Amino acid sequence: MCGIVGYLGTRQAAPILLDGLSKLEYRGYDSAGVCVMSNGELKVAKSKGRLATLSGLIDGGRAIQGTFGIGHTRWATHGAPSDINSHPHIADAGKIAVVHNGIIENYLRLKEDLVRKGKHFQSETDTEVVANLIEYYYDRLQDFPRAVRRAVGQLEGSYALGILCQDFPGTMIAVKKESPLIFGFGEGENFIASDVPAILKYTRKVVYLNDGDTVIFTKDTARFYDAFYDPVEKTPETIDWDISAAEKCGYDHFMIKEIHEQPKAVKGTLSPRIRDGRVVLDDVTLSKEYLEELKRIYIVACGSSYYVGCLGKHILEKTCRIPVEPILASEFRYSEPVLGSDTLVLIISQSGETADTKAALMEAKRQGARTLAIVNVVGSAIAKEADDVIYTWAGPEIAVATTKAFSTQLSVIYLIALYIADLLETIRPEEYDTIVNELLKLDQKIALCLTNDNVQKIRYYAEQYFKVHDAFFIGRNVDSAICLEGSLKLKEIAYIHSEAYAAGELKHGPISLIEEGTLVVAVATVDSLFDKTMSNVKEVRARGADVFGVTTEKHEAEIKKTVPSVITVPATHPMLQPSLTIIPLQTFAYYIALLRDCDVDKPRNLAKSVTVE
Ligand code: G6P
Repeated sequence: MCGIVGYLGTRQAAPILLDGLSKLEYRGYDSAGVCVMSNGELKVAKSKGRLATLSGLIDGGRAIQGTFGIGHTRWATHGAPSDINSHPHIADAGKIAVVHNGIIENYLRLKEDLVRKGKHFQSETDTEVVANLIEYYYDRLQDFPRAVRRAVGQLEGSYALGILCQDFPGTMIAVKKESPLIFGFGEGENFIASDVPAILKYTRKVVYLNDGDTVIFTKDTARFYDAFYDPVEKTPETIDWDISAAEKCGYDHFMIKEIHEQPKAVKGTLSPRIRDGRVVLDDVTLSKEYLEELKRIYIVACGSSYYVGCLGKHILEKTCRIPVEPILASEFRYSEPVLGSDTLVLIISQSGETADTKAALMEAKRQGARTLAIVNVVGSAIAKEADDVIYTWAGPEIAVATTKAFSTQLSVIYLIALYIADLLETIRPEEYDTIVNELLKLDQKIALCLTNDNVQKIRYYAEQYFKVHDAFFIGRNVDSAICLEGSLKLKEIAYIHSEAYAAGELKHGPISLIEEGTLVVAVATVDSLFDKTMSNVKEVRARGADVFGVTTEKHEAEIKKTVPSVITVPATHPMLQPSLTIIPLQTFAYYIALLRDCDVDKPRNLAKSVTVE
């Protein structure tokens, strides 16, 4: 969702802001803007549409001179995407400029009050209210930090704010509550940003601000305050991943680059946690005594992370013999879940910032459940709040449609399953060893799914089917859960209506939609259920569907008797098979989106990190 970049230094700010914003494009946005302080004036340029439009307006930043500035990419919530509604917003008398990520819930009440006090508004946004509220207090107090503090004290909702004041040319104030914001330490220059890639070119030393934090900074100094406005010392963390992780490196899109990064990401997540044939989770404090008392595991997440939860149900129940319930984070709080000290709530989130997922985590904690988060972004809100965290070492994921984060989340589920099953002795030692051995080979097997031959074959099938209007993904057991993710990939990036169904459920409704030319993607990797899935495939073939089949090598000859378009993946232990099955489904969706001329990395209306409920 919205992206923020702020810069104070000696270089020209606008090109740095544009460059930083371009690294946040993945978050999803519909308009962009910058404000640069120049000769005591706040100069603003903003426009609806892509960053390139804004850049064109200001000659790549050269048209606005000045070394202090804030920039923003907006994902519309209050008011349609338009030039006027774009950030930065300047207060009525022109003294305060604000960029904002989040939602001010009480903005209408504040706005009415400010209008009564004589403030005029140009936009429909909640952010302009923040700018005017700060200016209102500034006019009375003539003190920039105190004005910000008074205004922020009145805000309800979520916000990451970057604020400039015309009378304080070299100072910026940033405040964070429930929306991500980092501070970057440079040499004679300092930064704020929504995420690390925006400023990685300039500094590796960052602080992840906590909820309630304020930072008041110049190009050379930074003073941090906590939620009680007590001064706090912050020790910067050093980002150790390479900038190339946030660049396309010769690939056409981040998505295909990230698909190809999966062997490395999965290996990076698994191998440090397997030592001498045993799963070692150093950061997790789940004792045998606690696990023995455990009555239920909830897996709470959104989007693809939720689908990892659906796979997690199969994997954890089978291995650990504990009931597992995956539940969408947006539903969790309102479904009155049965929680307590005998419930473990597993939270899955790539970004660690998804608003619904974070709210569910807080509710689980409030009701006394233990929380364990699987998160990709170090220092994110969910990572900070959960009792235990296991990081997926996927590196930065830029494409909106997740691929490598999904695969690493699934890898962590395997580790947790083995860890718990071992402590509870619900797994035979030989089975444990077999799975660990297969885990150690998983990255190589994923790489086999991505050989040039296989990718070309998938591309060929994508060429056969890219014009379809409707698609159904069918499978049984773990294949049914992986179908959910395969189908989501197709709809989110290729804009094809697509649904996933347990294959056995087809005849209870969806089969009425199957007609000549409907695409059915049939996933059949579970040996014991192969024949049953094939019966369902025959049913849809008989009704004219085109079928694209995904199976393991051993079933290739059999499936080809019914289905001409087949892609095979290597076999592994059945529990781990989804990690291989998903690869052709991701790749298939990518090539179909490409052939349909879709904006693969930035699909319409979607955001990478969904920080509103
Ligand atoms: C958005 C993204 C999805 C992601 C979901 C959950 O919808 O587009 O790719 O699966 O949010 O995000 P999280 O960061 O919590 O995993």
